[in-house]
Amino acid sequence: MKNITPFSHTINKKNRGELLNQKPFLLWMTGLSASGKSTIADLLEKKLNSLGYCTYTLDGDNIRDGLNSDLSFSNEDRVENIRRIGEVGALFVDAGLITICAFISPFEEDRLMVRSLLSENEFFEVYIDTPIAICEERDPKGIYKKARSGEIRDFTGIDSPYESPKNPDIHIETHKFSPEEAVDIIASYLVKKKLIEKG
Ligand code: ADX
Repeated sequence: MKNITPFSHTINKKNRGELLNQKPFLLWMTGLSASGKSTIADLLEKKLNSLGYCTYTLDGDNIRDGLNSDLSFSNEDRVENIRRIGEVGALFVDAGLITICAFISPFEEDRLMVRSLLSENEFFEVYIDTPIAICEERDPKGIYKKARSGEIRDFTGIDSPYESPKNPDIHIETHKFSPEEAVDIIASYLVKKKLIEKG
């Protein structure tokens, strides 16, 4: 620490959560590009909003277009990407919001680091598990094609690693479920954990 003394504000996460009538927490979606993270996050957020919960979604391509536009896809920059998002995500939870993060986040250590920023029952890892062959077939942004042709380097799953979660809180094999069913699985988990009242 460099002569820094964090200030403890009177109004805290508990106050803000109570005002919003919700328990704030972070859902961390990890998986390959085109695995379905953004689609599922979007549908889940819609559902939570319709149930009266205040949410915010942080998404890879959007954040890399702004806050993290200075970062590349080198291993080092991916670590920094997730470090910043972890900090921002924890701030959003502190603000009382139900926060959804959708990032490839290929490294186990970084995901564990984000978990360590939050308390128990505040961080849930959701593994959006889609075989690379299916991601590549979908290829909505045409980037797998570019990665195969060598136009893009260090592409996750092709010439850059993805470390699958060993013990995710929620594991969704997207080839077995529709995005709507995936959302129902997540919502049922949240109800079971008493984080939301109904799904
Ligand atoms: S992460 O690995 O650092 O967590 P992040 O989720 O922020 O990645 O961004 C992933 C998105 O960036 C992908 O969905 C894709 O659209 C785009 N992208 C561009 N280049 C790459 C690459 N080399 N590897 C993976 N994704 C890439």
